[in-house]
Amino acid sequence: MSKKKIIIINGPNLNLLGRREPEIYGHQTFEQYFEVLKDKYANTVDLEYFQSNHEGALIDKIHEVGFSYEGIVLNAGAFTHSSIAIADAIAAVKTPAVEVHISNVYAREEFRHHSFLSKNSIGIIIGFGLRGYDFAIQTYL
Ligand code: DQA
Repeated sequence: MSKKKIIIINGPNLNLLGRREPEIYGHQTFEQYFEVLKDKYANTVDLEYFQSNHEGALIDKIHEVGFSYEGIVLNAGAFTHSSIAIADAIAAVKTPAVEVHISNVYAREEFRHHSFLSKNSIGIIIGFGLRGYDFAIQTYL
């Protein structure tokens, strides 16, 4: 059986995981956690990772993978709360997106309570730390 192609796309400031506000986002870097995920799903998933701090680069990547991959696991960071363009991008492509947030955004500032992406996502995983990415991958299996 061929492996499913799934990409994790992280938005702005998520390159600083492990160093960024560890009381909220934990002490692990995403690169470390990505290795754990790759090992765990080595037999079933062809897993890729992309991170950018730039809205346009995130949109370009969604377009690039969005007609051939099985899944997009998307943590758009703060663009979640501001970007109609990223919301349009996930609506425009065929590949379904799962929206992930490491922290429980509903327990935080009010401006984090609204997501432009949720309506165009197949599901949302919020507040389970980095394990949320693992849960999101499982939704495609
Ligand atoms: C985040 C939550 C966003 O509000 C914030 O801007 C982030 C990370 C999360 O994973 O909890 O950058 O998406």
